Amino acid sequence: MITLGIDIGGTGIKGALVDAESGQLITGRLRIPTPKPATPGAVTDVVADIAKNFRHTGPTGITFPGVVKQGRTLSAANLDPQWVGTDAAKVLSLATGDSVVVVNDADAAGLAEGRFGAARDARGLVVLITLGTGIGSALLYNGTLIPNSEFGHLKIRGKDAELRASERIREEKDLSWKKWSGQVAVFLRELERLLSPDLFVIGGGISKKADKFLPHLASRVSVPIVPASMKNEAGIVGAAWLASQTRCPE
Ligand code: BGC
Repeated sequence: MITLGIDIGGTGIKGALVDAESGQLITGRLRIPTPKPATPGAVTDVVADIAKNFRHTGPTGITFPGVVKQGRTLSAANLDPQWVGTDAAKVLSLATGDSVVVVNDADAAGLAEGRFGAARDARGLVVLITLGTGIGSALLYNGTLIPNSEFGHLKIRGKDAELRASERIREEKDLSWKKWSGQVAVFLRELERLLSPDLFVIGGGISKKADKFLPHLASRVSVPIVPASMKNEAGIVGAAWLASQTRCPE
C-alpha cells in the first residue's frame, strides 16, 4: 500500500510517498521550512501544500513534535503553544482531504527503525533517542511501541535534557563533538539507570554524523548504542506505515 508520510519538525516540514510494505520512499522528499510562528493554521497550510503536491488520496501519516493522544496534540515545546489541546487529526484531515493518523515524531521514528531499520528484530527494551531541534524518545518493548515517553524533558542538573544535549544546542553553542557528546552521555546514563534498556538507537539528522560522536559515547555508556539506519526518513516512514495500518490492520 502506498501512503503519504509527513514529518512536522521545528525547522522543516517534510513529506514523501512511501511503500508501507517495504518502508521505502517511492518519491523524493519535499521539504518546506516550518513557518514562524508555527501556529496550527500556518503549519496546516504547509501540510495542505505537501499533500496537494503529491496528489495523494487515501490515508496520510503525520508526525508531530509533542505528545499526541487520540489525535489531539497535548504539548508543543518547539512549535507555537496554540497547538496544545488542538484536535490535530481533525484540522490536518481537513487540510489533506482524507483521513490522517497523527503520531509523536520520535515514536514514528521508533516504529520505522523497529520495523525496517536499526532495531529490526531487536528484543527486549529498545530506547530510540532523536537529537534535533529538541530531543525525542521512543520506547519499544519486543517491537511494541509504548508511546509518548518524552525523555527529552528529563531534568539534567536542573534543566531539560533537550536544552543541554540536542543538536540545536550543539550548533547554537558551537560545542565541540567531544564536549557535546559528554552531555549526551550524561543523559543516556540517566536513562540507563532508570530503564535498563537492551539497546540505544540514536536518530534524527545527527545520525548521519554518527562517526563524530558515537566513539565518545561508547566509552561512557554500557548499553550498546547504534545509529538509526533510516536517518531523516524514519519519521516519514513510521507515520506512513502507521497510516497504512489504520485501513489494513495486520
Ligand atoms: C517534544 C517531543 C518531541 C521532541 C523531538 C520535544 O521537545 O516534547 O514530543 O518528540 O521534542 O521533536
